[in-house]
Amino acid sequence: MTSHLTIRRPDDWHVHLRDGDMLKAVVDYTARQFARAIVMPNLTPPVITVAAAEAYRQRILDALPADADFTPLMTCYLTDGADPEEIARGYEQGVFAACKLYPAHATTNSAHGVTDVRKLTGLLETMQRIGMPLLIHGEVTDRDVDIFDREAVFIERVLAPLVRDYPGLKVVFEHITTAEAVDFVAGSGPLIGATITPQHMIINRNAIFDGGIRPHAYCLPVAKREQHRLAVRKAAVSGSPKFFLGTDTAPHTVGRKEAACGCAGIFNAPFALESYIQVFDEENALDRFEGFASEHGPNFYGLPLNEGTVTLVRGGETVPERIVDGDIDLVPFHAGETLGWRIQG
Ligand code: DOR
Ligand code: ZN
Repeated sequence: MTSHLTIRRPDDWHVHLRDGDMLKAVVDYTARQFARAIVMPNLTPPVITVAAAEAYRQRILDALPADADFTPLMTCYLTDGADPEEIARGYEQGVFAACKLYPAHATTNSAHGVTDVRKLTGLLETMQRIGMPLLIHGEVTDRDVDIFDREAVFIERVLAPLVRDYPGLKVVFEHITTAEAVDFVAGSGPLIGATITPQHMIINRNAIFDGGIRPHAYCLPVAKREQHRLAVRKAAVSGSPKFFLGTDTAPHTVGRKEAACGCAGIFNAPFALESYIQVFDEENALDRFEGFASEHGPNFYGLPLNEGTVTLVRGGETVPERIVDGDIDLVPFHAGETLGWRIQG
């Protein structure tokens, strides 16, 4: 049995680093494990301009320990009024790595999101022309659609027509949770990729209702039935270059999670790689882990692979029940569990 695995340094293609004290409390967990991360722009107010992204990038860099070797890749939050010229300028100047499309009211801080993709025609033409990736939270927001069907319905109503209308547009279908999403991505051309979180490979929807309401297992898109978890796992370990690592680590304080209307999000950054490698190990796919964690993402984005390596060793530690930093109190994914792998220090 393999006792350790050394891979090229990985990247996280989907993180929420937040701002202020929360940023200071969480950023190092991501920076310790990953060389680069695609940083989500759903702050209050959202990151819409080049100047706001530059200022946020600086706040992230300032929050890092002095010896950190980590590059945040910034994204632009799309609104109905998104300005193609501003966004193209940000991309060409190397400030924006991508644009993020939140359907309005789909999730945390998405109130300013896009009400109809048809409002983005000019922008999508520009992004297609300059090769700028579009990152999509793929759920319809129609309250008449069952929450467990919102991703599949989004594919049919929004994503398939979009991909057909913009055949040259690079699209990342973020945090996929269903067999329909796996099939759509696998059946599309090379410009369509997807990120996969650890939680959507590890839990199914039962975890949210296991003996009572479990707010720390609640994120969006919500975990689905077992058959979908299995399909997402299979895609991740398949070796296909279309699927890559994106944790969607989304910290909210315990008070905001354990509430009458608890926030969506799983804080998985502290043990992200350990969580992913466990899945690849269980699937007898350790030989495919490096591709998923360190190669498919940069290749999709057209960025160089990282130099340096990280070594994971069999035999894990117990994940703390709480992670506390000043007033910030967080419950990490896998709280209280002992994981099968650890990072060699
Ligand atoms: O669970 C989630 N949390 N899903 C999202 O799409 C947003 C995120 C957040 O920002 O908390
Ligand atoms: Zn997210």
